Amino acid sequence: MKYIVKKTKFEEIEADASIVLVIKQNFKHEWVKDRKTLKNLNFKDESVVFLSESMRVYVSCESLEAEELRLVTSKAYNALKNTNCKSAKIGLYLDECGYVSAKSLVEGFELGSYEFSRYKTKKNPSKLKTIYISNEDINKKEIDFKTLKKAVNDGKILASSTNLAKTVINTTPEDFTPIEMAQEAKEIAKLENVTCKIYDEKFLKKESMNAFLAVNRASVHPPRLIHLTYKPKNAKKRVIFVGKGLTYDSGGLSLKPSSSMETMKSDKSGAAAVLGIVDAAARLNLPFEVHGIIGATENMIGGNAYKPDDVLYSRSGTTIEVKNTDAEGRLVLCDCLDYAQDFKPDYLIDLATLTGACVVALGEYTSGILGINEKLQQEFYEVSKRSGELTTPLYSNRYLDKAIKSEVADICNISNTRYGGAITAGVFLSKFIKPKYKNKWLHLDIAGPAFIEKSWGYNQYGASGAGVRMCISWLRHLQFKES
Ligand code: BES
Ligand code: ZN
Ligand code: ZN
Repeated sequence: MKYIVKKTKFEEIEADASIVLVIKQNFKHEWVKDRKTLKNLNFKDESVVFLSESMRVYVSCESLEAEELRLVTSKAYNALKNTNCKSAKIGLYLDECGYVSAKSLVEGFELGSYEFSRYKTKKNPSKLKTIYISNEDINKKEIDFKTLKKAVNDGKILASSTNLAKTVINTTPEDFTPIEMAQEAKEIAKLENVTCKIYDEKFLKKESMNAFLAVNRASVHPPRLIHLTYKPKNAKKRVIFVGKGLTYDSGGLSLKPSSSMETMKSDKSGAAAVLGIVDAAARLNLPFEVHGIIGATENMIGGNAYKPDDVLYSRSGTTIEVKNTDAEGRLVLCDCLDYAQDFKPDYLIDLATLTGACVVALGEYTSGILGINEKLQQEFYEVSKRSGELTTPLYSNRYLDKAIKSEVADICNISNTRYGGAITAGVFLSKFIKPKYKNKWLHLDIAGPAFIEKSWGYNQYGASGAGVRMCISWLRHLQFKES
């Protein structure tokens, strides 16, 4: 979508269609013209109507908060996408900060208009290609033109990095193996200040990343450890993101039932988010060194598959008894997290579709924020809210800590209790965090919202790009904390 920012009054802009918000059922504002028709149509909360006579789309909204604005523009897009309109115009609806409001309008259009049509033989692209944004606000408040342009640009970047993650996830496991993941990372490394190192199984062996290698053993596709670095001049801090990149999770010998296997192409969502985060950080010129470390592999079955009863020697030296090969994500992550700490992060954040238990606990809309530092979990929660992503902190305790005891090795890859599976998975990962980094580490379990089976909000069926926006909000937050 192309955005043209105009220093022209909303009414004076020429476009095929107009988008008008109806805030809390208030029809009084001068931009709401078709009052009688709207009343006849029983226009109420949640309503969206396109009136072809006046070529206006009216969208109801509760407030002018950022998330509400994202929802509004995605709904307006959907009302117009199958019409003959090539362009639409919208005024500004400013809430607490003009920058945030303008950025959110654009995010809603971009996220809501995403379509994954690679495997459709008949494509049906929308004619709507241009959005005019007037710098006139509904309350005649002023927003500086330069700020407005920046907001539009930033919103576009953030959404396009999120959409990049969606496309990675939506691509089938045959078309997107660890090799393609590495290829995608190399594309991102074409950006200024970004470099990328790709490591194969020889490196993994040399580094004793045996837990990661075990998961890969029965796959015909070789694994890749991907290390992307965005390093601007005068970087203030180093933030390392680690992503679970299971290009397919069949469960391994502890095979998943077929209905649970469907959608397991999305088990690379943590990795896809990490790609999106580095992409956005670089394109937004954020003043931090941002690393993206991805463990990419499949989890398959075969004669040489790793087995329940195996004991794995992880990179850190901790031995792991395998009791369930479907708890593979933590095995890949523990070696990647150990590797990541060699680079001395100021913050270390991993993202993974780690447990079905997290979805059971929090529902399909919400990611879990786990860790050891409860204050950091709380801080991340507050910040993530601004991005529009839903999260909840999950805290551990000393009793759950004992759940991964093993009789034969240092720890076991599954818990000995049926309860609290999202937290015990976090506890497992915490065993690989060195004392120095315990306060700086967070684990984000995005298993719920990563893949959408029934569309909600501005998320269509398929991947949502979960994790990208909340982590960029976190980096922005660090930026303001610094200054
Ligand atoms: N990739 C799955 C987790 C998952 C489940 C993601 C549903 C998205 C939706 C993970 O590897 C897994 O299978 N975890 C097991 C762990 C169990 C064996 C301890 C699970 O959640 O059942
Ligand atoms: Zn699994
Ligand atoms: Zn998995």
